[in-house]
Amino acid sequence: MRKETNLAVKDPLAAIDAIVRRHNITAGATIPILQEIQNTFGFVAPEALTRISDLTGIPESELYSIVTFYAQFRLQPMGKNIISVCHGTACHLAGAEKVTETIQFAAGAKPGETSADGLFSLEKVACLGCCSLAPVVNVNDETHGRVTPDKAQALIQSLREADQKENSGSKGESRNGKPAV
Ligand code: FES
Repeated sequence: MRKETNLAVKDPLAAIDAIVRRHNITAGATIPILQEIQNTFGFVAPEALTRISDLTGIPESELYSIVTFYAQFRLQPMGKNIISVCHGTACHLAGAEKVTETIQFAAGAKPGETSADGLFSLEKVACLGCCSLAPVVNVNDETHGRVTPDKAQALIQSLREADQKENSGSKGESRNGKPAV
């Protein structure tokens, strides 16, 4: 299932304030605060770091070092499609690096980042538990095995086409699903 980001929080600053207060505004609560911010918004925006810094007195640079050090934190919203390339030993030996490079180029997103069009987030992950299928790529939690660079390229292309189809379909219809006139 696709990971969703909750960008529809009505008053983001009030939400951040409430999270920080809930953790008693202490320096020791930095990681739980950042985790809750990420759970609420889907990522940790630079504006959130500024607000946490204002409320707690923790320097923004320190907060930034934490979110960039721990792989669990994201500074950008997740893309529409989450591509996870396994870099466990079996997949690494079977060519995961080449597959990652191909996806990076085709999707326009580096590992740990989201493409500028918001379509793809690329991540390198540890063993996905199906080493006999190496190299393995998960696309929105659907597993693809024995992925070659060509197969990876085709995968990204098909996701782009699906998105274009979805967009052109919604443009040609009115809100009630009937063709727009
Ligand atoms: S190493 Fe990739 S699935 Fe196990």
